[in-house]
Amino acid sequence: MTVDRPPNGKATDLHFRMFTSDFGRYTRISTIFPTSSMGSPSTVKAARSRKSSRRLGSVGGLLLLSLIVSACGEELPANSLAPASERARNIDNLFWLTVIIAAVIFVLVQGAIIYTAIKFRRKKGEPERPVKQIHGNTRLEIAWTVVPALILAGLAVPTVQTIFENAEEPVNAINVTVTGHQWWFEYDYTDLGVITANEMHIPTDRDIFLTLTADAGDVIHSFWVPRLSGKRDLVPGHTNTLTISADTPGLYLGQCAEFCGLSHANMRLRVYAHEPAEFDAWVESQLAPADVPSETADEADLRAEGWELFISKGCSACHAINGTEAEGGGLNPGPNLTHFAMRDTFAGSLYDNTTENLRAWLANPSELKAMEPDLNRGMPNLGLSDDEITALVAFLQGLE
Ligand code: CUA
Repeated sequence: MTVDRPPNGKATDLHFRMFTSDFGRYTRISTIFPTSSMGSPSTVKAARSRKSSRRLGSVGGLLLLSLIVSACGEELPANSLAPASERARNIDNLFWLTVIIAAVIFVLVQGAIIYTAIKFRRKKGEPERPVKQIHGNTRLEIAWTVVPALILAGLAVPTVQTIFENAEEPVNAINVTVTGHQWWFEYDYTDLGVITANEMHIPTDRDIFLTLTADAGDVIHSFWVPRLSGKRDLVPGHTNTLTISADTPGLYLGQCAEFCGLSHANMRLRVYAHEPAEFDAWVESQLAPADVPSETADEADLRAEGWELFISKGCSACHAINGTEAEGGGLNPGPNLTHFAMRDTFAGSLYDNTTENLRAWLANPSELKAMEPDLNRGMPNLGLSDDEITALVAFLQGLE
């Protein structure tokens, strides 16, 4: 699967880049809409008209540029206009129906305006004519009230139909409870006994019935994988449902779609769709006992040292490793790490699961992802030494 990886730069770099690009945009906008002009009234007027035509040109150019740039992404793994499931297609069809109706109305209305402006314009030398006033024309006013109302009522039919169709509870589905946390997604395959984070694995051609929620004390998040279905909120203390599926194997990217604090933009998710046999193998691998060093392991074993640190440094208070003394949960639950080494990404699917990234993360998590550990939001800096980080990374990378 070749899909763009999330950026591996540090969060500070990211912010800096965001800041500089915003800055660049603002400076460009200020040259399009200058705030002051100088000169005599007549030169100002001439300059203004020159400027306004240049402004129009710039705005048009920017629009064209943004259109070209937005068309550039060759793979577009989160493009809702490239539906990869029945429900996503239902939404896509509804979208295009709306766009086509709107486009026809646009062409008709604009055409009428342009036609009228040309046909009835005052010719050279022609005297000014009084314009026929149509204010209070009951028939016209009824017409332009009733026609749009009918169009909207007509559109409501397929809209409601799609909503009901997509909300239909699937049969023979795989149940997954999705919990939104600040700032990552937790997946509990309630029938299969698998718990994982950020990266969801599903078989192709099978409905996945999601029960969506968030812990009390958390905030509202929203689960959205544009190519697989619509979006649905994860509300603390409530449950919503959403069905997703995928026609073909592949990686489908998603993103939290409800502003949820500091790292909302860093709350990403991935859905890996496999052939059914491959999915079964994945489930089996997830059900295997966690590979943690035994109590009798050699003291010089780096992994054993890492496992000891995992407990003594308090990692196990937030991160569960199934079947071990690491229980997880607590006030500030973190992702279940039972088979962490099998994941491609970590930290809200923001970073590739590499040694370099893991080291940087353990050294100072908040530097890679904006968090508020003091408020039980995200991972704290545990003040680990280089050697401790080496041991912990070795331990984590053994969790296959
Ligand atoms: Cu979670 Cu935005």
